[in-house]
Amino acid sequence: MTARRYRVAAIPGDGIGPEVVGAARAVVDAAGVAFDFAVEWQELIVGGAAIDHYGRAIRDEDLAACRAADAVLLGAVGGPRWDDPGAAVRPEQALFAMRGGLGLYANLRPVTVDPALVDASPLRPERLAGVDLLILRELTGGLYFGKPSEERVTPAGREAIDTLVYTEDEIRRLVRLGFEMARGRRHHVTSVDKANVLATSRLWRKVVEETRADFPDVTVEHRLVDAAAMLLIQRPAAFDVIVTENLFGDILSDEASVLAGSLGMLPSASLGDRLTTVGRFGLYEPIHGSAPDIAGQGKANPIGTIRSAAMLLRWSLGEADAAQAVERAVASALAAGHGTVDLGRSDDTDAMTAAIIDRLPGRGAAVAGRAAGAAS
Ligand code: IPM
Ligand code: MG
Repeated sequence: MTARRYRVAAIPGDGIGPEVVGAARAVVDAAGVAFDFAVEWQELIVGGAAIDHYGRAIRDEDLAACRAADAVLLGAVGGPRWDDPGAAVRPEQALFAMRGGLGLYANLRPVTVDPALVDASPLRPERLAGVDLLILRELTGGLYFGKPSEERVTPAGREAIDTLVYTEDEIRRLVRLGFEMARGRRHHVTSVDKANVLATSRLWRKVVEETRADFPDVTVEHRLVDAAAMLLIQRPAAFDVIVTENLFGDILSDEASVLAGSLGMLPSASLGDRLTTVGRFGLYEPIHGSAPDIAGQGKANPIGTIRSAAMLLRWSLGEADAAQAVERAVASALAAGHGTVDLGRSDDTDAMTAAIIDRLPGRGAAVAGRAAGAAS
């Protein structure tokens, strides 16, 4: 019997990255046993670790290795050691090289509230009922990529400039994906912009209006980003799919994570249009950062990365059943009282991960089968 085989580039990165990526790999490997597939992991040094090793945040050959894989699983990059604002080389450059270089323009950040964690959020339980939203953040345009972006000296003193530019095609491909995803959900799109101030936002709005004609079954509303930020707390359950530009999506997704009880819970997928032989190529990472203050202490919540790995299984490897099994195992472990300290519970990273692995289907059978094989 030949199991299905996949190649995934694993980038532990910095801080708690190695701990959470290690956890997610263990869960994927265990799911592979249950669902008859195997992942060949290729570990790459990227981020602050790469600056220490190679003097740059990501090497061309590592970017090429990502491109050659079926998907990429990333922990987090960055930390105070590499934070000097005057430095020419910064860990985050690796993120932008991967997002831009691999054409990953669509960043999916789903936010759900696990019933077992309603108490972990500062919001009242009745506000959290029914929260199930998807932030679709444009990831390769806007202020993150616009040129010029620099500090310069003028006769009047120092000045700095960042450039906010969007082409209609960049907007349209992201917005279309938002409409398509709404069709698989509650058929509602909220487009977030700052059209009362920004020209890019007014173009964004026009493109949304043009695109909606192709999706008559999807309702659309436009919200200014400041009002959207407020509504996300006041009426979070009213949102289904949110489409927005790069920086607004960055900010709103951290805000939305409060609904879920902890930043450590939330996964993300970054997708482009490229298909591999097994699925859609993508990069998967938790939305949290490298949390250097708790690195190496076993305190990290691995769920954001484990859920990211579930998205990887679904989108890039076509292993939807395994993805769902992982997500259910996470929910079941939480319902049984497991959880890390950020959730007000007492598991360390390893115990949390083991609790999830224990709840994968056929787990007992697979273990028993291996034991029987070893005995025969
Ligand atoms: C994120 C992060 C990054 C971003 C940082 C680390 C550059 O906050 O993925 O949300 O702003 O995109
Ligand atoms: Mg962010």
